[in-house]
Amino acid sequence: MATMESLIVTVNRIQRACTVLGDHGGDTALPTLWEALPSVVVVGGQSSGKSSVLESIVGRDFLPRGSGIVTRRPLVLQLHKIEQGVQEYAEFPHLPKKKFTDFAMVRKEIQDETDRITGKSKQISPVPIHLSIYSPNVVNLTLIDLPGLTKVAVEGQPESIVQDIETMVRSYVEKPNCIILAITPANQDIATSDAMKLSREVDPSGERTFGVLTKLDLMDKGTNAVDVLEGRAYPLQHPWVGIVNRSQADINKNVDMIAARRRERDFFATSPDYGHLASKMGSEYLAKLLSKHLESVIRARLPGITSLINKSIDELEAELSHLGRPVAVDAGAQLYTILELCRAFDKIFKEHLEGGRPGGDR
Ligand code: GDP
Ligand code: NA
Ligand code: MG
Repeated sequence: MATMESLIVTVNRIQRACTVLGDHGGDTALPTLWEALPSVVVVGGQSSGKSSVLESIVGRDFLPRGSGIVTRRPLVLQLHKIEQGVQEYAEFPHLPKKKFTDFAMVRKEIQDETDRITGKSKQISPVPIHLSIYSPNVVNLTLIDLPGLTKVAVEGQPESIVQDIETMVRSYVEKPNCIILAITPANQDIATSDAMKLSREVDPSGERTFGVLTKLDLMDKGTNAVDVLEGRAYPLQHPWVGIVNRSQADINKNVDMIAARRRERDFFATSPDYGHLASKMGSEYLAKLLSKHLESVIRARLPGITSLINKSIDELEAELSHLGRPVAVDAGAQLYTILELCRAFDKIFKEHLEGGRPGGDR
């Protein structure tokens, strides 16, 4: 059990190290390695609740949310599970010496870092912000928050923005390693959902798409989404999950995550429409579902990942002997780190095999 977890942790670390390395890994197997590792991307229309869903999965308030275009750069968020009892913290690779324990400051840094590239405007940028959260209460996951798909440019935005956002979102979701969280608000017509349209296009079989229905609390009285949630209206390979996030009024009143989750649980437990589905609804259930799925994806890809890692070890060794002894904080040092991580992965993987029950340690 510990071994599968340490494999995922190591895979996460390699992924992060590759990110910091940027293009320097261009001639090695590293870019392919990155593509082999799964990540979860939220897709949907503007204000459908994407950032809110990500926050609930993490169980922490740290993302800018609200009406209009709030998320204006991709946010690549890596969750790292640490020991119970250790204080949780966040780190941005662009501020390597700073540990954030106040999550309100994390949100502020995301806002500031967004403005740093786009100005205080409604413009967007495809340059991602990277963030790591270390917490005993998370599952090991890479999550990516994206700007919402829109239909028209608003004042202060270039006409090209509609297409620019779609191109940006597409560049993430078309990768076969991407697990899509397709977010649709329940108070809109699902037939016109941007999330469903795009995810169907890039994943016609639905094997990497999770349908998420937000704003169930805002549906017209007398209507419900049981047909969707039970998988009849829009069948997907994975079960649909219904969500109730905080409303704008809740955000304004600073309703905290614990209260929000309790309210979400109560909503489903006491609902005449959804009561029978209560155990398979809500943010906490979605987080568990995703983590289980991710683990099975990694398990299935282990042989491929392992051979890529062994290829990387060879290439990195060659590259490093060519560079000579690496000095601090440059590409050489980063390559060296990745090499160490690849070796660590190889070691854990061998232990995993020697454990004798490949695939059966859970
Ligand atoms: P994004 O633009 O898709 O990232 O959406 P946000 O997470 O920023 O949410 C947009 C707005 O919708 C915010 O004002 C949220 O409070 C509100 N919102 C999101 N999900 C729900 C929900 O399930 N119920 C209610 N009532 N409001 C929600
Ligand atoms: Na929004
Ligand atoms: Mg957002």
